[in-house]
Amino acid sequence: MESAQGIETVSLMGKKIILGVTGGIAAYKAAELCRLLVKAGAEVRVVMTAAAQQFVAPLTFQALSGKPVLTSLWDAASGDGMEHIHLSRDADLLLVAPASGDFLAKLAQGRADDLLTTLCLARTCKLTVAPAMNREMWAAAATQRNLEQLRADGVQLLGPAAGEQACGEVGLGRMLEPADILAALPGMLGAGPLAGKRILITAGPTFEAIDPVRGLTNRSSGKMGYAIAQAAAEAGAEVCLVSGPTCLAAPTGVRRIDVQSAAEMREAVLKELPSKAFIAVAAVADYRVDAASPQKIKKSEAGLTLDLVANPDILAEVAARPDAPFCVGFAAETERLAEHAEAKRLKKKLPLLVGNLAQDTLGQDSAELVLFDDRGQHRLPRADKLIQARALVAHLAKLLN
Ligand code: CTP
Repeated sequence: MESAQGIETVSLMGKKIILGVTGGIAAYKAAELCRLLVKAGAEVRVVMTAAAQQFVAPLTFQALSGKPVLTSLWDAASGDGMEHIHLSRDADLLLVAPASGDFLAKLAQGRADDLLTTLCLARTCKLTVAPAMNREMWAAAATQRNLEQLRADGVQLLGPAAGEQACGEVGLGRMLEPADILAALPGMLGAGPLAGKRILITAGPTFEAIDPVRGLTNRSSGKMGYAIAQAAAEAGAEVCLVSGPTCLAAPTGVRRIDVQSAAEMREAVLKELPSKAFIAVAAVADYRVDAASPQKIKKSEAGLTLDLVANPDILAEVAARPDAPFCVGFAAETERLAEHAEAKRLKKKLPLLVGNLAQDTLGQDSAELVLFDDRGQHRLPRADKLIQARALVAHLAKLLN
């Protein structure tokens, strides 16, 4: 499983997690999630709904968690009959994965007609859900209405992902892979290596207007910057992402500020300082049109000459401040990567620079990276950008700590 990489360092040592499993085919993946949670050091109590037991036997989870599985409100009424209260009081996190459409509906209404919904209502800890359902069920107006309610109630959502579904259809609604759910948890629990640290990131291209309908821009999908923002949030950082125009959604827990031009990006970045680290991933346009036309420029046989002026170098400016954060630069080169990247790192006085070959990376989901720091070069062989982002964040966390 591709996304299982990059999570070897996840630690949930001593964290008490209630894993709620509801009825959906993704319940079989919850078994793997349970194994990963235990491996990461968490103490896991599994609670299954009646429907979940139609897909996977409680014994599977008992074996994986090393504890009896709770399946009924009435079984749990042992001792003083307040097991549902004690369980949730004791937990650091209540994680429901998979969370079916029906379960989300009940949760949004605050219903408590079985052990899991009762625990959710009685809890004082954080509640995170990883939805899983058919794409039409996910897109249904009722589900979207319920999700809006859940977000407003402070429930954290993980996923869903898009892709092939068990029903044969393709679309949004698949449960996130267990490894991706695991990776997101330390940050949510304040246990990641960047816990409590402010990290400022730029991503995407900038757009420099020529007139109201035209402009100059760079090729950049924003995927790498957004993946780094996600990885930093997973590591517990308080992440601010200053983004040029992209088609991407902000990762969970990341605060995004949208900008268009390099000047707007610079202003937003300076406003967000101080921060512990600044990761400049954006492909900032080097030049802007000196005087953009307020009206649409009409075409002419005579051609068009534009006067361009240099844009400010945001990274160099931030790195030169007396209160400079730990600055990470990116260098997309088309040749002689090591030579150009190291020259750039020294010129901008950066403790860390990430180099890649532009033609191998642009717009793609995977990348091959080389990290340049004071100790030399570290090669990250080609992998999914999120996996690379996690490796970069782990490296950054080591240097910061
Ligand atoms: N950067 C920035 N502001 C700019 C230009 C670049 O913050 N105006 C940042 C980028 O986000 C990236 C690094 O600086 O982290 C790239 O620097 P540089 O290589 O100087 O940008 P290029 O335009 O690619 O340089 P060159 O054309 O000389 O290769």
